[in-house]
Amino acid sequence: MAKEIETSMRDYFKAHSNLRFIFFGGKGGVGKTVTAGVTAQWLASQGRRTLLASTNPVHSLSGLLSQDVFGKHTPVTGVPNLWAYEIDTKDTIERSKVEIREKIQWFLKFADISTKAEDFVESATMNPAFEESAMFENMIELMLKAEYDSFVFDTAPTANARRLLGMSQVYSLWVNKMLKSREEARSLRELLSFTKKKEKDPLMEYLIGFRDRMERARVLLTDPAQTAFFFVTLPEALPIAVITRFIGWFHEFGIPVGGVLVNMLIDRTQVEASSPDFVKNRLAMQDRYMEDIWQKFEGMVRAKVPLYADEVRGVQSMGMMAEAVFA
Ligand SMILES: Nc1ncnc2c1ncn2[C@@H]1O[C@H](COP(=O)(O)OP(=O)(O)OP(=O)(O)O)[C@@H](O)[C@H]1O
Ligand SMILES: [Mg+2]
Repeated sequence: MAKEIETSMRDYFKAHSNLRFIFFGGKGGVGKTVTAGVTAQWLASQGRRTLLASTNPVHSLSGLLSQDVFGKHTPVTGVPNLWAYEIDTKDTIERSKVEIREKIQWFLKFADISTKAEDFVESATMNPAFEESAMFENMIELMLKAEYDSFVFDTAPTANARRLLGMSQVYSLWVNKMLKSREEARSLRELLSFTKKKEKDPLMEYLIGFRDRMERARVLLTDPAQTAFFFVTLPEALPIAVITRFIGWFHEFGIPVGGVLVNMLIDRTQVEASSPDFVKNRLAMQDRYMEDIWQKFEGMVRAKVPLYADEVRGVQSMGMMAEAVFA
């Protein structure tokens, strides 16, 4: 087993020159947001118009960039070709609610059911997965609009993305079934109708549109030439366990795994016999887990990033981290 980086982040991007959708996953606090930011900044420096977008309801891009990027595509100060955008969850949810309310109202009228639409809307949108779905749809909208050369997504814990992709398969079955029964109801209604005039069916149009969007997103998200998920870990047991699980799931769903970034490595050139035991012990622990990492993720480690003396914040310190990520 080679204990060295075989294909670096830089090599990976060179070999995948059409990569457009880049994601970062991993356990909480391991450095997903900063590595997403660093990657977006690097892509922009290569002349690619890049959007760094956060679909995580707990946004942190404004904090990372020391600039308000909430709710709109905002040019990042001092970085040509880079825009950042924290999706407004509240706005997304409100828009989805309005859309769903319209569909339900129309359906109740169509089916001659005299119930208030509100009750249905409430129960549909109280669903705990509703916010996640709304975010996912928002992300898909960005991907399909394709207004940038590359998109770097700072996502919520990646399990969600995987669950939603799983759900998209179920959605598709469900939509097809709905379409079939809508077709039947429609022809029956037309048969019984005296006027014989063809009616527009907004629910059906919505379902078809939704199914098409999901399908187009699935095609993009499973294309290794266009999409890559990178997993960030620390040389520690729990973060390694988390990404091991994620990578397994992603393989199962046919979503391309770009590789693994190891973050917060203690610089051994700074540790000597006289260093505090605390530091020496942590270094020994990291060495042990690095063995694990080389073995578990053979050929997939793309970068080793040192633990810096200070937090990574602002365009300048991101630039410094880029030297390690894109060494
Ligand atoms: N290599 C590093 N050296 C020093 N500080 C780092 C390093 N990488 C990340 N940090 C700091 O660690 C903290 C967590 O990083 P970050 O916010 O990117 O993690 P995250 O995985 O996005 O967290 P969350 O799961 O909460 O979204 C930040 O304060 C960041 O500045
Ligand atoms: Mg984050």
